Amino acid sequence: MVTELAKDVYWVGVVDWGLRHFHGHELSTPRGSTYNSYLILDEKVTLVDTVWTPFADEFIDNLRQVIDPAKIDVVVTNHGEVDHSGALPTLMRYCPNATVVVSRKGQDSIKGHYHQPWNLKVVQTGDRMGIGRRELLFIEAPMIHWPDSMFTFLTGDNILFPNDAFGQHYTTEFRFNDQVNQDELYTEALRYYANIITPFSALVSKKVQELLAMNLPIQMIAPSHGVLWRKDPLQIVRKYQEWAAQVPEKRAIVLYDTMWQATRKMAEAISDGLLSQNVPHKLYHMAISDRNEILMEIFKAKAVVIGSPTLNRSVLPTIAPILEDLKGLGFKNKVGAAFGSYGWSAESVKVIEKHFADCKIPLAAEGISANWQPTAEDLERCRRLGCKVAEAVKS
Ligand code: FEO
Repeated sequence: MVTELAKDVYWVGVVDWGLRHFHGHELSTPRGSTYNSYLILDEKVTLVDTVWTPFADEFIDNLRQVIDPAKIDVVVTNHGEVDHSGALPTLMRYCPNATVVVSRKGQDSIKGHYHQPWNLKVVQTGDRMGIGRRELLFIEAPMIHWPDSMFTFLTGDNILFPNDAFGQHYTTEFRFNDQVNQDELYTEALRYYANIITPFSALVSKKVQELLAMNLPIQMIAPSHGVLWRKDPLQIVRKYQEWAAQVPEKRAIVLYDTMWQATRKMAEAISDGLLSQNVPHKLYHMAISDRNEILMEIFKAKAVVIGSPTLNRSVLPTIAPILEDLKGLGFKNKVGAAFGSYGWSAESVKVIEKHFADCKIPLAAEGISANWQPTAEDLERCRRLGCKVAEAVKS
């Protein structure tokens, strides 16, 4: 249902209740998502972003509830990824002469995706475009989270459209932050930050400072996914500032996979050690757990302890992706430790420790390998490892 945000400003997006995977299957979305698009009625009828390709026809129907799509003069494309630009080809058949506003890098992504002779207008930070009673102010936000990413601020109504920044893959029947469960909202906002934005945290800090220094009278932040921040809109900006600092909580994550339960027993002994030192922690069996939830938990925690038996002189295939994620996401301010069982040769702990070194995550303790099923002595070594990790968490 189309929602009026302010006089002549409408949310015309799509709610995708059934979405469970995003970026292909890279990112889990247990609470679905929304593709938010905004229609501004002024002398120049302006649209900010569109929706994902499969919803293009539904999107056109939404627009028709407010205006004939042929009357659209300006389409601001804050970011080229297809969940926001995918409906452009359908839309532009209705308004082929509309001006498509893009950032400097946005012209590459939009041309590259669609190969269409649209009338592109390239803007930079500080550029303004009058659309009648109001203006659009553009703020480039490279690497938050693509090189082409851009924020658009609507004067008069004082709404910031920051595209992916400050968003959440979060579907509810409501559109605004004050209408939804706050724990769910912040869980999804953090899942988004941890899994997508983390590598660009240094840029987030700078951009947030720049945004706050502009002293824009922001009355609403309307991202491209999830609910809109109308109550205390800057709360999510402050939260991004906090997340970008990557100051971990004094807690640990123990994740493992296991073939014949030996590595599981080691994980549980490590957990006993952590518990004996009163360190909050969670255990995850990777093979049956949501990788993106674990990454969110790792983001919050000081320590990440990873276990795998040796298979083919390496780790189990379920463990390899999280090692790559640790490297790609570049988590800061962590300590690590490794453990695992083996039969004929013991390589898994070395492989995990090498990944920690590559990620610049120092070891809280030397890793533990146990031959075949762990002995009582092996399990005691694991408990001691848990205690050492606890010390590092508390330090
Ligand atoms: Fe929501 Fe980067 O696309």
